[in-house]
Amino acid sequence: MTRTRIAKVLQDSQPGEQIDVRGWVRTRRDSKQAFSFIELNDGSCMKNLQIVVDADVPGYEETIKQVTTGASVAITGEVKESPGKGQRIELAAKTLKLLGVADGQTYPLQKKGHSFEFLRDIAHLRPRTNTFSAIGRVRNVVCDSIHRFFQSRGFLYVQTPIITTSDCEGAGAMFQVTTLDPEKPPRDDKGNVDYAEDFFGKKASLTVSGQLEAEIFACSLGECYTFGPTFRAENSNTTRHLAEFWMVEPEMPFYELTDNMELAEAFVKTIINDVLERCPDDMQFFNERIDKTVLDTLNNIVSHEFKRVAYTEAVDILLSSGQTFDYPIEWGKDMQSEHERYLTEQHFRQPIIVYDYPRTIKPFYMRCNDDGKTVRAMDVLVPRVGEIIGGSQREERLDVLLKRMEECHLDPAEYWWYVELRKFGTVPHSGFGLGLERVIQLVTGMTNIRDCIPFHRTPKSADF
Ligand code: 4AD
Ligand code: MG
Repeated sequence: MTRTRIAKVLQDSQPGEQIDVRGWVRTRRDSKQAFSFIELNDGSCMKNLQIVVDADVPGYEETIKQVTTGASVAITGEVKESPGKGQRIELAAKTLKLLGVADGQTYPLQKKGHSFEFLRDIAHLRPRTNTFSAIGRVRNVVCDSIHRFFQSRGFLYVQTPIITTSDCEGAGAMFQVTTLDPEKPPRDDKGNVDYAEDFFGKKASLTVSGQLEAEIFACSLGECYTFGPTFRAENSNTTRHLAEFWMVEPEMPFYELTDNMELAEAFVKTIINDVLERCPDDMQFFNERIDKTVLDTLNNIVSHEFKRVAYTEAVDILLSSGQTFDYPIEWGKDMQSEHERYLTEQHFRQPIIVYDYPRTIKPFYMRCNDDGKTVRAMDVLVPRVGEIIGGSQREERLDVLLKRMEECHLDPAEYWWYVELRKFGTVPHSGFGLGLERVIQLVTGMTNIRDCIPFHRTPKSADF
């Protein structure tokens, strides 16, 4: 007999069917009339399968006491109509095999209602809880939705490198990759570390973004996207920052900023619609147990056009809001999460796309506007999470790009290949990056981004 996953059993199995299920025991209750109820979960869905094990099932006496919360079992039997409330069918066990015990004294997930902080310390077991199994399933659907969105539009999936020698965002927040001995690195005549001796022959790091390499493919094969882990060595201990996070970055030739905005909006809405359609039970759970407004928020997002607001206008709104912010805003400063949240939660009460940011707070690659002050940048801001997408039209004019690099203290020689894209057949193009874990935060209603990735990496934390 082959194993049937519980999601399929609960959906399709009919009374009389013989099945084989395996999984982890959530609870066991023994009845006085010499039988036991097992609630079994195998991670395929939120719901458990109720199993009735009669005392005459072979081995009942010897095994049943070890069938405790967390133990793993293999059970075969016949599907029956369930007389009890809450489930269509149940399983009448014919054989019961204990695969692995879970000692009741030491198994940490005995009772419900552990704090998320505690569960982070047992990240090897937390996927067995309702919350984290639901997050795992939703995250899977979001990733599938991302690929489908781009594949159905003819975008090419390109794999950009993880190890790089260029700093895309120019923020200097990179993790170095080296095989040099930190105790005694080789030094040049001037006493500086001699990276010529290092593995790659120069200083290398983990990428903060695959954008620059994606631009190469966009300017040759057309619309493309890269989707992978990115790394930021910022010392930000917030509920929205990870040192390792996943980012999907589409890059499109012949797109101007407004085309970029349209794509970003359709993208976010498609992901949300797919999750609502494909994960109804998990979403119901999040709405009941995690954030009672999450379904309303998501339905509101998919049913309204994202408002487009120039940065200058956004700053004016903040200045005349009468609010006191921890970080006072003024034209030329970057927006903090409190500002983003005020705009999306209180003022507009929906997602907005802020565009045309001051040049001085944005990276070198963004296209300069004629006003001499702003660049063709756009951020998609959503309620609760703030920025989930950052993007721009790219500077395709060689002379302007070189001037911007100088302004940003970047050496064009180090970005020679990026510069050459502007020398040989340059085209207007645009793209953006969406943070996967920020999307998971948005759709699940979870407050802390550390709970939106299987194993989080943040300052002072890289366990598992
Ligand atoms: O705004 P960012 O830094 O933009 C870029 O990296 C561009 N190169 C993208 C592009 O145009 N191709 O990052 C993009 C998104 C943010 O909007 C946010 O959702 C997410 O990545 N992000 C983070 N998520 C978690 N932890 C962090 N430390 C993040 N930094 C950015
Ligand atoms: Mg950004």
